[in-house]
Amino acid sequence: MDIVVFDNVTKAYRSGEVTVDALRDVTLRIPEKSFTALVGPSGSGKTTALNLIGCLDQPTRGTLTVAGQAMAGMSRRQGAAFRGAHLGFVFQDFSLLPVLSVYENVEYPLRMIRRMSKKACRPEVTRLLASVGMEDQADKYPAQLSGGQKQRTAVARALVGQPALVLADEPTANLDGQTAQKVIALMKRMRDEFGTTFVFSTHDPRIMEQAEVLFHLEDGRLVDTQAAPGEVDR
Ligand SMILES: Nc1ncnc2c1ncn2[C@@H]1O[C@H](COP(=O)(O)OP(=O)(O)OP(=O)(O)O)[C@@H](O)[C@H]1O
Ligand SMILES: [Mg+2]
Repeated sequence: MDIVVFDNVTKAYRSGEVTVDALRDVTLRIPEKSFTALVGPSGSGKTTALNLIGCLDQPTRGTLTVAGQAMAGMSRRQGAAFRGAHLGFVFQDFSLLPVLSVYENVEYPLRMIRRMSKKACRPEVTRLLASVGMEDQADKYPAQLSGGQKQRTAVARALVGQPALVLADEPTANLDGQTAQKVIALMKRMRDEFGTTFVFSTHDPRIMEQAEVLFHLEDGRLVDTQAAPGEVDR
């Protein structure tokens, strides 16, 4: 099954008199449970594509389906509910809340979006912190963590509530090469452990090597698709 389907998707941004086609007639399929990368130079449309998948923006033309749901015509409220039910996000700048501990950052989506009690959250938060190797740091605050530890916490937060799909826009851009490799390996291991589909963007050739499915964008167009054997059945 494909968890994300783009059919002839164009995204145009208008600023004043000028229209920029950030994505041009893109057709692609992302297999469920795959470890997929969007790659391409700056301005090629990677963030635009992730924002469309994340229901943070809507296509100008074409159709986009995510987890079986057509993305067109959703209200803000429906979009938020869809994200809460199906998606997790990892950001380049980690985006942890500075006043919350590691434990509380991971617990936050369950408390705020799922409205679960502290007690009900505990088993899942504890399990995820252990999975990303942060159980010993649970009481620390983001300012006390290294970049790699922050991103491991953010990966745990993205996975809490068991989303089908995690979107990560340049998740390794603010990490040194070795830490970047470790975070990518961790995300892949989380895919293996939880069956979560991961879609991430990167500029870094050593990071893109880790992807099983690779979509190359240039100037808003899909110019190449690479897949490890058995990943994309065309
Ligand atoms: N909100 C917006 N308004 C107008 N133009 C935009 C907007 N967002 C993106 N663009 C334009 O769309 C194109 C694609 O941008 P996008 O951010 O998707 O690229 P990217 O591949 O993520 O680049 P980078 O590697 O620098 O993050 C660029 O030309 C950009 O200037
Ligand atoms: Mg970008």
